[in-house]
Amino acid sequence: MANPQRYTVTAALIYANGPIHIGHLAGCYLPSDIYVRFLRMKGEDVLFVSGTDEHGVPITLRARKEGLTPQQVVDKYYTVIDQSFRDFGIEFDIYSRTSRPAHHEFSSQFFRHLYDKGVFTEQETEQYYDPEAKQFLADRYIVGTCPHCANTNAYGDQCEKCGTSLSPDELINPHSTLSGAKPEKRNTKNWFLPLDQLQPQLQTYIDAHPEWKSNVAGQCQSWLKDGLRPRAMTRDLDWGVSVPVEGAEGKVLYVWFDAPIGYITASKEWFTQPETRNTLTYGGKPKSDNWEVYWKDENTKLVHFIGKDNIVFHCLIFPAMLQVHGGYILPDNVPANEFLNLAGDKLSTSRNWAIWLHEYLQEMPGKQDELRYVLTSISPENKDGDFTWDDFQARVNNELVAVFSNFVHRTMVLTQKNYGSKVPVADQYTKEDLVVLEEAAKFPDRIGAALSAYRFREAQQELMNLARLGNKYLSDTQPWKLIKTDDVRTRTILNVSLQLCANLSVLCMPFLPFTSKKLRTMLNLGELNWEQAKSTTLLAAGHTLTEPVMLFAKIDDALIKQQVDKLAVIRQQLDAEKAAAELAAAPKPMNDPSKIEAAKGETSFDEFSKMDIRIGTILEAERVPKSDKLLKLLVDTGLDKRTVLSGIAKHYTPEQVIGQQVTILVNLAPRKMMGHESQGMILMAENTAGELSFVVPTKTNVDNGSTVK
Ligand code: MF3
Ligand code: ZN
Repeated sequence: MANPQRYTVTAALIYANGPIHIGHLAGCYLPSDIYVRFLRMKGEDVLFVSGTDEHGVPITLRARKEGLTPQQVVDKYYTVIDQSFRDFGIEFDIYSRTSRPAHHEFSSQFFRHLYDKGVFTEQETEQYYDPEAKQFLADRYIVGTCPHCANTNAYGDQCEKCGTSLSPDELINPHSTLSGAKPEKRNTKNWFLPLDQLQPQLQTYIDAHPEWKSNVAGQCQSWLKDGLRPRAMTRDLDWGVSVPVEGAEGKVLYVWFDAPIGYITASKEWFTQPETRNTLTYGGKPKSDNWEVYWKDENTKLVHFIGKDNIVFHCLIFPAMLQVHGGYILPDNVPANEFLNLAGDKLSTSRNWAIWLHEYLQEMPGKQDELRYVLTSISPENKDGDFTWDDFQARVNNELVAVFSNFVHRTMVLTQKNYGSKVPVADQYTKEDLVVLEEAAKFPDRIGAALSAYRFREAQQELMNLARLGNKYLSDTQPWKLIKTDDVRTRTILNVSLQLCANLSVLCMPFLPFTSKKLRTMLNLGELNWEQAKSTTLLAAGHTLTEPVMLFAKIDDALIKQQVDKLAVIRQQLDAEKAAAELAAAPKPMNDPSKIEAAKGETSFDEFSKMDIRIGTILEAERVPKSDKLLKLLVDTGLDKRTVLSGIAKHYTPEQVIGQQVTILVNLAPRKMMGHESQGMILMAENTAGELSFVVPTKTNVDNGSTVK
């Protein structure tokens, strides 16, 4: 849309089933916030809404896991999530939630409207039912053995071990996670949105947007090519918005039906809140006092910011709902991002492989803009991105500190020292000055063009180019030397540099809002709009500046090491869990009594008593690099603590044996294996299948050092 009158910008309603991490921020909240801040600074009429998605199976599963009710879960995480967004300067007009009565009412009406229009098809389908818990089971509530990899804990929709998508029918030995009962199939009636019939109009809609990002358009076209199928808009679940139709008792709206309507409910809510009534202006102009123009007026540009897993819902299903309802505008763009990884691995809430925003803030207080900056620099706009702490440190130190902060600081300090913190007069511009000022004036349009096209990385790079321009200008003109010989010229140079600082303070606002504020305080400037950053005379001669502070500080190695170590501990735990699961899933060889090892020849009591056998405990254990058999153990023998190598690595993981009591031959002559010295031998029982087991005391008071005879 070329010249919209206003904008409605949404950021995905995240499930309120956990705190938020850097992947969420990079995925859609940061880009949407940057976009909206920019629009506001341009004086555009914009409404920015988001909130939490509080229905659906993700919520009920979490509730079971935490032993809370679904309502308690969403109350808990709404607060955490809302706070994180505030802390990181994500400035929604409203941050709502779908469990509010107003949303239940509105989404219910929306459904009823479609129902009354005869949009839905009613279909009986067979669904899994738990006869003991007396309820239908969503796919996630059914576990069984994966037909592809024999994982015994595969879910009805996916095996998390081998990554295959499944349906409950494919599971071997399926059972309910609620009661353990074997699920039965029962007939149930649900209401379907006939996406197959709506396909032609959706195809027209998607084809009309060749400007969409290729990852987004590509996914839509591939869905359309496969052919859309009717999709149930109601579900047999006891948590959600009740279906407002007779005969639908015990059913709720499909979470992907009610959640996107949540954007509309949030918008309505904003307009009816007494505290927002007073702020109904934009760019100094009065705003419409009617929520409907933001959703129904053809001159409104609707933009959804989401992550790539939400594409079909925002580009096909929600538009289909809006089309069949009638009266609503459709999304003008859906600039979905790819995913961000953490040190090479997929971020995961359930596996705790993440950097949580609330923890980051505790460990790096006040460094919100540093994270915003780095996440935008590596924003997964066209392909998956990767966050590492080393890269974080490098970008902060080499870019924010060395370029941005350094330029501002040098300018401010020189002015303070030499001109009592008053903006010095620019006497006569040289050609050099004019080139710099002319170049600087181009940045608002340059950055703005990138932002309008959802190219946030590029926009932020341009911002840094302005700081680089300033830095280079200072290095070329060297006012700290010139001050000794040419006061007039020095004044002009500092005046020019200060103007660039002022421009930076405006243009950095969408990306680095906390920094922008600090910088404006130093420059003693109020809030300015985007166009004003084209001016090269924002600061009048004689204008008083305040005390310079460092905008960014170097991040030292110790701080980074702490974070790297923290991740290493989590990685170790994850590896151990994976190894244990693999061991458990490995096929077990059968024991064969006919293969019992033959008896050995006689020995004497004297010979036997030469062996010093003791009870000990394994204190530490680790794999021996390059060996798949050996574990290196530290054993407390009661006599001492010693290193013992043991060929049990195929049977036990290091984590499994730490704390294990053992029987150990302590006077075996030391032996070297794989470059390590082993001082003793752990006694193991071995069956005919080659399986090993520790030989341990049967009472608990057998202390380390107890003898075995
Ligand atoms: N709750 C979904 C998620 O976290 C996103 C919902 S977006 C909305 O992936 F459009 F449905 F609101
Ligand atoms: Zn599998």
